[in-house]
Amino acid sequence: MGQTPMLDKKHKCFIPCQLFFLFICLNRAPFTIANDQFVYFGFAQANLSLDGAATITPDGLLELTNGTFNLKGHALYPTPLHFRMSPSGYAQSFSISFVFSILSAYPDKSADGMTFFVTRNKNFSSALPAQYLGLLNNQNNGKASNHIFAVELDTNENSEFQDINGNHVGINMNSLHSVQSHDASFFDDKTGMFKNLSLISREMMQVWVECDGGATKVDVTLAPIKMAKPARPLLSTIYDLSTVFTDTTYIGFSSATGVIN
Ligand SMILES: *[C@@H]1O[C@H](CO)[C@@H](O)[C@H](O)[C@H]1NC(C)=O
Ligand SMILES: *[C@@H]1O[C@H](CO)[C@@H](O)[C@H](O)[C@H]1NC(C)=O
Ligand SMILES: *[C@@H]1O[C@H](CO)[C@@H](O)[C@H](O)[C@H]1NC(C)=O
Ligand SMILES: *[C@@H]1O[C@H](CO)[C@@H](O)[C@H](O)[C@H]1NC(C)=O
Repeated sequence: MGQTPMLDKKHKCFIPCQLFFLFICLNRAPFTIANDQFVYFGFAQANLSLDGAATITPDGLLELTNGTFNLKGHALYPTPLHFRMSPSGYAQSFSISFVFSILSAYPDKSADGMTFFVTRNKNFSSALPAQYLGLLNNQNNGKASNHIFAVELDTNENSEFQDINGNHVGINMNSLHSVQSHDASFFDDKTGMFKNLSLISREMMQVWVECDGGATKVDVTLAPIKMAKPARPLLSTIYDLSTVFTDTTYIGFSSATGVIN
């Protein structure tokens, strides 16, 4: 076949986004009793709450969205977690790692991306697809009352959110305008330089999200699969997460498809 099949322009927007597996480790402060640790290799047994386009494939992968346009999909861990200590109000340390792959129908474009989030509210019925990443909408974007912390893997440049480009990782607090963002890249321990990655390369990549004791520092690291965690994170920001987390929180993933310009 010499011809690439042409798609109806209206449907020119694909980001079937698959998450392959997930390790979550919540490192609790020393004075609490138990450690919460979840390790999933495949999601078949994970009993996640799914909505929108999200499904678990027969081979146990979490697929958040498929090749239809203007979709959103969410997968949440069904049990609430305590990311804030009572009565002190400190946000607690945690680390999470997951592996994902973005499988676009186009070799060089995709919209719009996905997020890992920690949220107070697990009802995303009013969240919008496309550039809102299934996380927020045009009414609540930027409001402190959202109580959402997210790490975005953003494959589209949206000037209204001051996106740096169409291939970046961002740390977001209650907003799609990132507190900090960086070209998708990883720190190469050998050369001491950051090397670019393409989020839509169809390659599997790993993300680490780590919040320190007292949770005022957030580090996000990206690397190709099979690579040990690089010595330096891609993003590192000081932010008091106790202002974002509520006593009861949910963790999960969102993805959205939109239209490619
Ligand atoms: C799965 O999650 C649902 C809530 O979403 C809960 O009612 C059910 O007990 C859970 N099942 C297992 C096996 O954990
Ligand atoms: C994608 O998911 C939506 C919502 O679940 C569904 O209506 C649609 O048929 C699916 N499209 C494909 C191409 O699988
Ligand atoms: C989710 O929120 C919408 C309004 O945004 C509301 O209509 C709906 O009942 C809520 N669903 C649940 C399960 O609370
Ligand atoms: C990495 O990508 C960014 C954004 O596309 C570009 O500005 C930069 O020059 C690239 N860096 C390298 C080392 O290729």
